[in-house]
Amino acid sequence: MKLQKSLIFFMTLFLLVSCTNDSDSDLNDNQVPVSITYTNSIKSIIDANCISCHGTSPTNGASISLKTYQNVKDAELNFGLILRISKAQGAAGMMPNGGTRLPQSKIDEVINWKNNGFKE
Ligand code: HEC
Repeated sequence: MKLQKSLIFFMTLFLLVSCTNDSDSDLNDNQVPVSITYTNSIKSIIDANCISCHGTSPTNGASISLKTYQNVKDAELNFGLILRISKAQGAAGMMPNGGTRLPQSKIDEVINWKNNGFKE
């Protein structure tokens, strides 16, 4: 009887310990996606691939700037930015102009950003 009681005690203890876990590391282990924002994701994609022509004063024949959050959001709403970066490599109008198509994962980030309401 005594053995049974202490067995139950230890099993309960074990259950409590195994249920208590650091939820932050659990979330990261399960790769819950961090919300995509302009600041944490989109700006670096644009800066690395587009700013050489779409700077504050656009150059090389580009007509719009992609320098700010508002610029990039407007470019999608009014100039089909996602359509441009989604075109096949070498297709007319593909962006970056005359360059290499972005990796699909980067394109998906921009699509995701739009679908989640253009978070700044
Ligand atoms: C080498 C220069 C160059 C780079 C780099 C470049 N673009 Fe462009 N972009 C242009 C030119 C030139 C045009 C105008 C011709 C056209 O519409 O195809 C243009 C047009 C656009 C347009 C249509 C609005 C407009 O300016 O007429 C969008 C949207 C756009 N680019 C997005 C992008 C994005 C996003 C990137 C980066 C992934 C990028 N571009 C990289 C040169 C560039």
